[in-house]
Amino acid sequence: MFNTCDLIGKKRDGISLSKEEIDFLIEGITDKSIPDYQVTAWLMAVYFRGMSYEETNFLTKAMLNSGEVLQLKSIKGTTIDKHSTGGVGDKVSLPLVPIVASLGVPIPMISGRGLGHTGGTLDKLESIPGFNVNLSAAQFESMIAKIGCSMIGQTKEIAPADKILYSLRDVTATTSSIPLITSSIMSKKLAEGSDGFVFDVKFGHGAFMKELKSATELANSLVQTAELSNNTSIAYLTNMDQPLGFKIGNWLEIEETIDILKGKGPRDLQIITYLFSATMAYLGKKVDSIEEGVICSVEAVKSGKAFEKFLEIVTEQGGDALVVQNPETYPRAAHLLEISADSAGYMASINSLELGLANVALGGGRLKTSDLIDPCVGIEIFHKVGERVEDGDLIAKVYYNDGVEMGELKGRIERAFSISSSPCDPLELIDSAISKNCDIDIQKLISTIEREVL
Ligand code: URA
Repeated sequence: MFNTCDLIGKKRDGISLSKEEIDFLIEGITDKSIPDYQVTAWLMAVYFRGMSYEETNFLTKAMLNSGEVLQLKSIKGTTIDKHSTGGVGDKVSLPLVPIVASLGVPIPMISGRGLGHTGGTLDKLESIPGFNVNLSAAQFESMIAKIGCSMIGQTKEIAPADKILYSLRDVTATTSSIPLITSSIMSKKLAEGSDGFVFDVKFGHGAFMKELKSATELANSLVQTAELSNNTSIAYLTNMDQPLGFKIGNWLEIEETIDILKGKGPRDLQIITYLFSATMAYLGKKVDSIEEGVICSVEAVKSGKAFEKFLEIVTEQGGDALVVQNPETYPRAAHLLEISADSAGYMASINSLELGLANVALGGGRLKTSDLIDPCVGIEIFHKVGERVEDGDLIAKVYYNDGVEMGELKGRIERAFSISSSPCDPLELIDSAISKNCDIDIQKLISTIEREVL
């Protein structure tokens, strides 16, 4: 019907493609009737010329319809999910799902694995012995109907066009195009059948988008695309210039999750978790304001309901709930290396990208999808940027097993921390929110969280 070469030329010349033209391209990409050399030429044209929100929406829909779309017909209520663009120490989904589900908002969460320096929710969940992330669509839906949530991996039936496009983007320097990222994320998110989303778009050296400006563009594009699909959403721009929480590594992050669900844990992780759970409760129509959502979320943790819900998720998905109740019984890594400050001063920076890569080198992450993960290894940190550090203070613990060459790695981890003799400001955790639903006063919400948690 259309000529692929003409469509590449149109995009090259900055002309918007119609829904029918984009459908034609995505069908041809999925059934492989369009050869890779034409697909990559079109990707490069999109990279340079961009796409309008309308075109991005057409592309998202075409990619979504290239595969299975869950309907979740048996689930009552407004289903809400969260998507993070990925970071170091970002385990927010793990405490978030049980908190929000215990407030009665159904959550169909389909997550990814870690790749490169960022960790993945599925790998963290799989560090719990027996935990099965590979449920069928029918099992996923019946678990949500039964306990209000489920956390699984993407099936190969979901958005197959994305898999093809993603691998071609990866080898043609076109990954960082905002419309291509938006359609890749949204086609998979819309396939899980959620009614609304909270987007956590991270910026900084440990994030996929390094600059606040491009992260903001992506956040706007995600919110706009959700809206064009009649899905409600709110996006937050959050800082990844230092790790989130204190622990990086698969089981270590489950430990920190348990802390959060017991009302403890690092301040930054508590704030982000409660802010997002409150936002999901609001979008899920369980509360009238995000402020009220904060109060209900903190109460769900204090009452023990959120931890109980986490145990339910673990049990339903075949995991060992006893080890979650008794985390001290989990096997430890064979070796521990302690890193101390060699001068007094103030923590000036913590390179989250380097720490994320160090975790991969320890065996806690993967550089290619076939790499195996060691769930016990990781890095624990003890300060945040801006904090006072004394000479000899412990700044990191590295948990590792045999077979890791620590010599060079130790230096690399040490160099990830920089201590300054003059005071430095703490980093702002959240830059801003993008919402078409309500005004969001982030400082006020943080104060409410701090008041309720204490
Ligand atoms: N995550 C995705 O799923 N796709 C992208 O293109 C980038 C991040």
